Amino acid sequence: MRLFTAIELPESVREVLMEAARPLKAACPEASWVRTENLHVTLKFFGEVPESQVTEVCNSLERVLVTGTARVAVGGLDFFPPRGPVRVIVLGLNGEVELIHRIYQEIDRMTAEIGFPSEARPFVPHITLARARRTLHSSTRQKLPPLLRWAGSPPSLEVTSFSLIESKLGSGGPQYLRLASFSTK
Ligand code: 2AM
Repeated sequence: MRLFTAIELPESVREVLMEAARPLKAACPEASWVRTENLHVTLKFFGEVPESQVTEVCNSLERVLVTGTARVAVGGLDFFPPRGPVRVIVLGLNGEVELIHRIYQEIDRMTAEIGFPSEARPFVPHITLARARRTLHSSTRQKLPPLLRWAGSPPSLEVTSFSLIESKLGSGGPQYLRLASFSTK
């Protein structure tokens, strides 16, 4: 099973994001845009995990003892990698992101103990909006940001949990299934 941990976004936030992404999508139809129901903040990605190990993963996630509520708002448009041809179009997060970093670090620490190595790249909390099928021209970095408009202020949310998600890959794109949820309250 392909597994990862994530912060799920309330449906109301996902809908506002999708509405705001509409002009970007129109300007960049060659990218593969994430479906509304799939928008999330990825924490640690585990990749293929045998079904027999899921309980062990859940048990280690139970040991993530971070408490608190992170009040965050959706931030600006950003691109990965930071320079040159674009692979991923994302939205950043502003506000109490420190707690999200702590959740990530604890997930990383607990699951490293059961054989899931840490990522070499530093963790940057983000919401992926689109992925390039190959790469997108670097001019995308200038073209898209002015098209992102919020009706009022960017959506905000209170993070009080994280989830273990299974990603089922299919021809119509991935389908995400919540296997368990862990409270930080
Ligand atoms: P992303 O949000 O930064 O794009 C489910 O597939 C999530 O896991 C994706 O949203 C993606 O994060 C992340 N992911 C997918 N494949 C990955 C990989 N090989 N290494 C790290 N993260 C990955």
